[in-house]
Amino acid sequence: MTGLVGVFDSGIGGLSILQALRAELPQSRFIYIADSGHAPYGERSDAHVMARSRAITAELRKHQVQTIVIACNTATAVAIEQLRTDDPDLPIIGVEPALKPALALSQTRRIGVMATRSTLASAKFKTLQASLAGQAEFVLQPCDGLADAIERSASSNDTAEIQALCAKYTQAMGSFGTDSGQIDTLVLGCTHYPFATQQLREVLGPHVQLVSNGPAVARQTRLKLLERALPATGRQEPLPAAAQLMLISTGNPQLLQAAAQRWLPRMPTEPNFIGVP
Ligand code: DGL
Repeated sequence: MTGLVGVFDSGIGGLSILQALRAELPQSRFIYIADSGHAPYGERSDAHVMARSRAITAELRKHQVQTIVIACNTATAVAIEQLRTDDPDLPIIGVEPALKPALALSQTRRIGVMATRSTLASAKFKTLQASLAGQAEFVLQPCDGLADAIERSASSNDTAEIQALCAKYTQAMGSFGTDSGQIDTLVLGCTHYPFATQQLREVLGPHVQLVSNGPAVARQTRLKLLERALPATGRQEPLPAAAQLMLISTGNPQLLQAAAQRWLPRMPTEPNFIGVP
């Protein structure tokens, strides 16, 4: 599968979705925009997130992308419907907290959901939760500051703040474990949070299941490209990262570069990189 896919997030979190996209579509090319100059989204007004999502979509359009993946739960919750209305011919794929996959995994039927304040307050999330009413108990936890701490850790390598926030927020959710009444499954409802997996494991132990949506979003993107009849090339050698990826930041380009080096496999030392002021 070929094709040019635009991907964006408020910052580096969407790299967790880009990992899955590159694995699913090794022959496609990607332009990733980290809107770090205007982050975090999760604690800002809907108007801010909407305006930024529209500006970035317009920027990606200039690069002639064939589809856009909103690799951000918050921007999806606030803006995806408007973006689709603005541009009905452009396939736009979003990401939402993985409540349904978590339901399929949970034995205790008590499921934790960590996400940004905005995502949890959104009408889109409330509709999703209401559609699953009666099937499990969802314990919702807004995690102010966590995405920001993960963002900063990419260049400093200092994870103390992430550790403290993971401990504080999981403690606030109650008891985790596989016994009846305990939370046995935790949804990582913000694309930054998979990068705190190690810190979450330290507080939760090995038995709680951590669920996120990257692979499902990647499969859906493949289907969208297929619908567009882009030539299917079958499984082939992945494109070299320098040809496959263009990384753009509206904030600190070094931070995005450091995060990409750390979290994306097969990154060259000099990725195809453009910093936007
Ligand atoms: N990564 C984003 C998400 O999935 C939000 C982080 C932020 O607050 O900017 O919701």
